[in-house]
Amino acid sequence: MTTGQAPDPAQRVEELRRLIEYHNVRYHQLDDPEISDAEYDSLVRELRGLEEAHPDLADASSPTATVGAAPSPLFAPVRHRVPMMSLDNAFTEDELLAWGRRLERLDPDLAGPGAVFVCELKIDGVAISLRYEEGVLVTGATRGNGLVGEDVTANVRTVGLIPDRLGEDVTPYPRVLEVRGELYMPVSAFEELNRRRLEAGERTFANPRNSAAGSLRQKDASITATRELAFWAYQLGEVDGGPQFASHHETLEWLSRAGLPVNPEIRSVKGLGEVFSFCQHWQEHRHDLDYEIDGVVVKVDDLAKRAELGSTHHHPRWAIAYKFPPEERTTKLKEIMVSIGKSGKATPFAVLEPVVVSGSTVGLASLHNEDQVRLKDVRPGDTVMVRKAGDVIPEVIGPVLSLRPEGLPEWRFPDACPRCGGPLVRLEGESDTFCTNLDCPGQRDQRIVHFASRSGMDIEGLGEQRVAQLTSLGLVADVGDLYYLRREDLIGLEGFAELSVANLLSAIEASKDRPLDRLLVALSIRHVGGSGAALLARAFGHLDRIAAASPEQLAAVEGIGPTIARSVHEFLHSEHNQAVLDKLRRAGVNMAGPAAPALAPTLAGKSVVVTGTLSGWSREAAEEAIVARGGKAPGSVSKRTFAVVAGEAPGAAKLSAAEAAGVPVVGEEAFAHLLETGELPGAGPG
Ligand code: IVH
Repeated sequence: MTTGQAPDPAQRVEELRRLIEYHNVRYHQLDDPEISDAEYDSLVRELRGLEEAHPDLADASSPTATVGAAPSPLFAPVRHRVPMMSLDNAFTEDELLAWGRRLERLDPDLAGPGAVFVCELKIDGVAISLRYEEGVLVTGATRGNGLVGEDVTANVRTVGLIPDRLGEDVTPYPRVLEVRGELYMPVSAFEELNRRRLEAGERTFANPRNSAAGSLRQKDASITATRELAFWAYQLGEVDGGPQFASHHETLEWLSRAGLPVNPEIRSVKGLGEVFSFCQHWQEHRHDLDYEIDGVVVKVDDLAKRAELGSTHHHPRWAIAYKFPPEERTTKLKEIMVSIGKSGKATPFAVLEPVVVSGSTVGLASLHNEDQVRLKDVRPGDTVMVRKAGDVIPEVIGPVLSLRPEGLPEWRFPDACPRCGGPLVRLEGESDTFCTNLDCPGQRDQRIVHFASRSGMDIEGLGEQRVAQLTSLGLVADVGDLYYLRREDLIGLEGFAELSVANLLSAIEASKDRPLDRLLVALSIRHVGGSGAALLARAFGHLDRIAAASPEQLAAVEGIGPTIARSVHEFLHSEHNQAVLDKLRRAGVNMAGPAAPALAPTLAGKSVVVTGTLSGWSREAAEEAIVARGGKAPGSVSKRTFAVVAGEAPGAAKLSAAEAAGVPVVGEEAFAHLLETGELPGAGPG
């Protein structure tokens, strides 16, 4: 609310301190932040600005003077003999240069192109301190409030990359050596964990950072052990009787020799010009990594100079964090609506006040199903946090409870289908809700869109909008009608000129020759995907023979279970579907197959991940081809992946996961050979 009057600074300072403390607890203790880091940072900046402008309002307990939040009583306290400090932030090149000028005033040697800085990625995880005594890990602790953290030793011991003892290369061991660094969850592991939680009807984690923090701060360390966590070391804490280092880069080299993971992207550079190039490079390439970064940490390399520069009560003067633009933003949730899919599945989605996240405008975001809306507790009218990381689809993470208007009612899943008004039904034990009216225009349109899609009959130019246009004009009521469209039906309709009509009609004509398995996929038979369709096509060779088979005969096909068998049988025996199939038959749509000879199980037991756009295959078709040869085509890369096939604009996270796991990445040229032989072409390059 604007009153036209500047708010009283003392009042605003109080308000900001309260807000920041509230968000500190949500972030540090509950692992469940409500606002994005960027929004948090802007509250802190506003407070710091006011405190600087009004020194009389300064207070040693202000959140600008402290770090994080008090440790949680769930874990035993650990006092940090060397405090774990926070970092000062820069958001622009100018702010980075301003830091440079502050350094220069304190030490003229640190100005100009000769000054050495170490640039590190700012890992978005949880800061921890590992205490080694005589080379043996004795304590693992969180940062807590910087002076006292939480004892998470048992949890930390379950992380495979954290050594229980330092390597022999660094003997004699220091009496005490504290290693500080970031515990994180790889993006691929986070996605897999959330996929499993979604399936199990559990609340998903908002982002890899929360997921790492939540996994680490478990009372029962055996739960931590089931989570894939990793670690990068980047700093020393207390050291007693250890080696003497002159520079930070030497320290990192020593840590690496000691067996601690040190990030391979760390660079020593000269001058702030090179520092800024490093920052720009990683701002553009942040998603090429299988872990999240939210900026770059720039550190003075010379340790003697560091000691002279010292620290404020909050952060060292010798380092700064250059922060990237946020991938999480808050916005208003205007409404929750429900969309109807081809099988009648009713999916809730959020209609948002459009907001720019990660460089694109987000106005809609899926909410998956009824349980997810309830677990996230988002309500129309809420301010919500929205996340869009790289090319991942946008997600609503949760509400900002502190901004919820009083009395805001919970959202209720509608009882009636928004398209046809028929009942929406959720079966016992299922997480999805369905519109069960087979004549629902929403379902019908989606079935036609699916029929024409690339994994179906691949009719170019027949997308959602055109389908809606044709069905609303009564020109098409089912997929069979597509084959009876004439030039004179279409010409003159909005968006249909001579050329587009000709193109659409020839695309429809060309689709008549698709092999049987594609037709089976295109028909939207429940439970029938690419691999089931391929098995049926191969076993029966003609749609009429599939239709003539009993459910038992269908289920006798290797790989076809009773659920698919029943669904296929029911589908092909419904009167409505028989009429549609008749239209297809009369129009000359191919019903025989398979076009290809029976496929050898060349990929049995092998996982092949496809990423990016292949020129000769749709993603679905490529994955089906893998499955049809006995292989698996999972959505993420692991150590067990046999190969990654990368097309145009491949997923950066998959490529870096492949690199990390030593999985070969091949181009589309190698794909045919891989399918045929189950091996990668040649032993050498190419
Ligand atoms: S150095 C005294 N280096 O950023 C300096 N911190 O906002 C201690 N962080 O608490 C931190 N990557 O959790 C440092 N390469 C890196 C980092 C890093 C991530 C985190 C760390 C710290 C926070 C400060």
